[in-house]
Amino acid sequence: MKNPFKYGCVVGGDNFCQRPELARRLADFVRSGQNVVIQGERRMGKTSLVRETIGKLRDVRLIYIDLLGVCDTPDLCGRISEALSGAERSLPFYRRLGKLLPLLRPTVSIDTDSGMPVFSIDKAAASSQGSLESILAAVANESARRRICVVFDEFQDILGMEDGKRVLAVMRGKIQLDASTPYLFLGSVRNKMTDIFWDPSSPFYHSAAALPVGEIPEDDFYPFARSKFKAGGRSLSKEAFSAIFERARGIPGYIQELCDTIWDCTDTGSAIGDAEIALGLQSVFAREGDHYEIFMGRLTPIQRKVAVALATHGGQGVYSAKFLKMADVSGIGTMRRSLAKLTAENLIYRFDNEYRFFNPFFAQWLRQR
Ligand SMILES: Nc1ncnc2c1ncn2[C@@H]1O[C@H](COP(=O)(O)OP(=O)(O)OP(=O)(O)O)[C@@H](O)[C@H]1O
Ligand SMILES: [Mg+2]
Repeated sequence: MKNPFKYGCVVGGDNFCQRPELARRLADFVRSGQNVVIQGERRMGKTSLVRETIGKLRDVRLIYIDLLGVCDTPDLCGRISEALSGAERSLPFYRRLGKLLPLLRPTVSIDTDSGMPVFSIDKAAASSQGSLESILAAVANESARRRICVVFDEFQDILGMEDGKRVLAVMRGKIQLDASTPYLFLGSVRNKMTDIFWDPSSPFYHSAAALPVGEIPEDDFYPFARSKFKAGGRSLSKEAFSAIFERARGIPGYIQELCDTIWDCTDTGSAIGDAEIALGLQSVFAREGDHYEIFMGRLTPIQRKVAVALATHGGQGVYSAKFLKMADVSGIGTMRRSLAKLTAENLIYRFDNEYRFFNPFFAQWLRQR
């Protein structure tokens, strides 16, 4: 039997462990036309949750726009136009859409291979004043025709655009006029999403309900993982799953990754226990250790010491005399600079009064070295 665990991609269907509480709340928001900000750490399952949940709402058409690495207004307009035109591949729809977007010099053609209509805009024209407004108006116009839900994934990347602040203001202006459409804003970088939605000077301040996506409940994931192991003749006790869950800090992407390597290290008839989990973890390190090494190689010796201290002693009280001593760091200033560097490099992030590793396996790898 093939390894049933999946990670590093959006999951759905049989690969998706139901999160009934979150799904119900999200579906309620969408049905009532409420805008929602969906924030959570990397690999928590934001994108999968949204796609799976909206996909099940039969009468709602999903317009999904991924903003990962979006660079400028033409790029942004291009992505929105692609998502909008992907919602219905028909000639009449494209003709109507084209009429709404004269500024973007749209073209409608027929793909000679598939015979399907193709809609595209002129990227050069999309840099003109008003192009973003017009494509957002076209989105709003769509919602007058049928029920849609617009998703902006990796929304924080707007701030990486040169004129990100202006773009946010334009988007906010248009979106607030479209009260009946639910807009969902997904983001993984805690601080930037917080700046956009919870800083009073931001155009999006308090403009959406919050639906945080955190750890998956252990009791939800256990039956999911157990049945996958069971289908392959492996048994997984509650205790063993708790150990996996803890190692992966409850983050679905890392739970799946560890289950994936444990599967590969075991055979039909195995019972998963401490030894199998340890093997699985070593196998994660074998796959990823080179990347960890390269990463560590880019740090100064002091930054490395701070990383190891965080992995070994946890990320609380990092400015205390005790922690400075354990990390062998001379003073608070040095500690602050090191933490800033590790944060900027996306190794760690601040969670309340604690510094945490994005990747829990990286921390365990550092501990065992
Ligand atoms: N409900 C779920 N059931 C099972 N696995 C899940 C679930 N949600 C997420 N995962 C696991 O986590 C991985 C990442 O999921 P997803 O891309 O949806 O997370 P994300 O929060 O959008 O991550 P990113 O911040 O990287 O965009 C998936 O490949 C899968 O392994
Ligand atoms: Mg995502």
